[in-house]
Amino acid sequence: MSRASLHCRAMKSIVILISGRGSNMEAIQQRCAAEGWPARVAAVISNRANAGGLQFAAAHGIATAVVDHQAFGTREAFDDALAAAIDRFAPDLLVLAGFMRILGERFVRRYEGRMLNIHPSLLPAFPGLHTHQRALDAGCKLVGATVHFVTPQLDHGPIVMQSVVPVRDGDDADALAARVLATEHQIYPRAVRWFVEDKLRIERGVVRQRDGASQLLLP
Ligand code: GAR
Repeated sequence: MSRASLHCRAMKSIVILISGRGSNMEAIQQRCAAEGWPARVAAVISNRANAGGLQFAAAHGIATAVVDHQAFGTREAFDDALAAAIDRFAPDLLVLAGFMRILGERFVRRYEGRMLNIHPSLLPAFPGLHTHQRALDAGCKLVGATVHFVTPQLDHGPIVMQSVVPVRDGDDADALAARVLATEHQIYPRAVRWFVEDKLRIERGVVRQRDGASQLLLP
């Protein structure tokens, strides 16, 4: 086997799912290209045809697809169509980056151990929507974001990395969201890189980074 084909075999295929802006997808794509990861973003797939991130992906030569959830009568039918679209790209890793659909258990099991999500809270606090407002309402002094392996329970699963953002006097949900998002763009590429470099292992539900790199981004 030639060196070139060996190299190709080692390249991991990443498929990214988005529903909107796609700034985390952009951050991952840019770091993957700039740092020469042993991986490529093979496709970006959205459940919304008007997701802004699709344009970025197409402009960077990445295959795009839309699987519109509104076209399906049941969650299972949508999940099956989505899985078919994903599997065309034989992903080693599926990355949920602002993908705002709940995925059924069968779908999650299909990609278990090779599907990551980012959520804008310090999980297990505040799964679901409106995380920043809920954190403000609870009087939290620290907020943040979490990259985790996806399990059938919404916004749960072994934690790969977290970022921490202090709450300032006068913060509203938008101000917090912006500061947390800036940290998402740091921790998600790092976590994805660890995955494609086989640097992650899960021990009794806890994710360890094989080199002992910090899994916490402090302010
Ligand atoms: C991000 O803040 C991400 O954490 C959040 O949606 C935003 C997507 O932004 N995800 C969730 O709330 C998932 N539960 P982006 O499209 O610019 O990456």
